[in-house]
Amino acid sequence: MSWEKIYEERKMTACEAVNLINSGDKVVFGHCISEPTGLIDAMVANHDAYRNVEITHMVSLGKGEYTRPEYKDNFKFKGIFCGAGTRKCVAEGYGDFIPVYFSDVPVWMRNGLLDVDVCMVMLSPPDKRGYCNIGIESGYTYQAIKSAKKVLAQINSNVPVSFGDTFVHVSEIDAFVEMDMPLAELQPPAIDDVETAIGRYCASLIEDGSTLQLGIGAIPDAVLSELKDRKHLGIHSEMISDGVVDLVEAGVIDCTAKTLHKDKIIVTFLMGTKRLYDFADRNPIIELRTVDYVNNPSVIAKNNRMVSINSALQVDFMGQVVSCTIGTRQFSGVGGQVDFVRGAAMAEDGKGISIIAMPSITTKKDGTIISKIRPYIDHGAAVTTNRYDVDYIITEYGIARLKGKTIQERAKALIDIAHPTVRGELADEFEQRFNRSY
Ligand code: COA
Repeated sequence: MSWEKIYEERKMTACEAVNLINSGDKVVFGHCISEPTGLIDAMVANHDAYRNVEITHMVSLGKGEYTRPEYKDNFKFKGIFCGAGTRKCVAEGYGDFIPVYFSDVPVWMRNGLLDVDVCMVMLSPPDKRGYCNIGIESGYTYQAIKSAKKVLAQINSNVPVSFGDTFVHVSEIDAFVEMDMPLAELQPPAIDDVETAIGRYCASLIEDGSTLQLGIGAIPDAVLSELKDRKHLGIHSEMISDGVVDLVEAGVIDCTAKTLHKDKIIVTFLMGTKRLYDFADRNPIIELRTVDYVNNPSVIAKNNRMVSINSALQVDFMGQVVSCTIGTRQFSGVGGQVDFVRGAAMAEDGKGISIIAMPSITTKKDGTIISKIRPYIDHGAAVTTNRYDVDYIITEYGIARLKGKTIQERAKALIDIAHPTVRGELADEFEQRFNRSY
């Protein structure tokens, strides 16, 4: 049968498509921009038709209405990341969290640890050969489509077409729902003096010809804005955001010095504004690969001068990094942090470095100041990057290199880059704990 015929036969309304979901099904949403928000709204509107539908996804820019307490008998969120829309249901117990490396998600889909009865995804319209495109995400969505028993696709002509593990033939899809809508956007954050200082310290460790992994937010953008005079930078990263576009356009990021995938930006997904999505559309410099490949530490290690930059919520005196929990509360997920910390350390040229960059303090809404450098991690917190893997910690007050240092030396180096208002308190803790003067 021609692909055109398959497409016509499987085209339906959103209501018809979500009726293909059965009670008890395990449903995986496309990641990030490939989340089919129109279909999800239809599924939530149809909630009375379901009991115990399990919903799993990583980063979501959607409303997360299926996590509302009134739907707890209809939908159960079992997240592999927590964000603004999903933290509450996990904290209150009617949702739950599965600890998993992002890089393991496609592997778990293949080996059955993560069943996919239904994959709901947003795709571009088919091209002349009958291939739709996942757009700017290939992390786990590509594998979710391959593993799912049923695939329900929202077809949106605003989805860009990108190269790599992103093409899906119409024969792999069970329901096509044509529904155009603007893609969700994440505006670049404002960069303040603290982040600028952190960006400068990070940039001081980045040589010409380095390959970078950066997360999202003000710190990665601040680092990028300090790199305008570098040459031949490359990208091998879980994700990229708008900040990368400026440096590609300025010729700073050209990927020509990369030792793996020379001339290509390698990522698993992009998240930012329409400017970034337009930049990604049919751009041969960008290649999206699945996350089990991109975040594999042995693959990362093949990049010479690999520099990984991630952030954290807390670091204790031993260098244990907490990035995903605030006390017992699940705040986010591990993403690729540990994979990139390990991959950079394993870099075959011996020049890889990993940086955890964070402001020295956070200020709560009531004005309370909390130091992110602490003697101990909070009760109930989970370590993300352990003390054996951690390397550089950077705050707006400087750089602490922890590898090669004793516990006491680590504690001192960290106190030296803590906020000045808490250094005295931390020094007292140091003296009590190690029975020696600071
Ligand atoms: N104790 C209590 N609260 C804290 C805290 C601490 N030590 N540190 C931060 N917070 C609070 C902040 O006050 C802020 O609260 P608000 O939302 O009410 O304003 C919130 O936590 C977020 O802090 P912020 O510093 O703005 O975090 P961020 O948005 O820059 O994200 C991480 C930082 C660590 C959560 C994020 O980088 C992450 O999830 N990392 C793990 C995954 C990863 O590294 N992925 C990339 C790999 S490729």
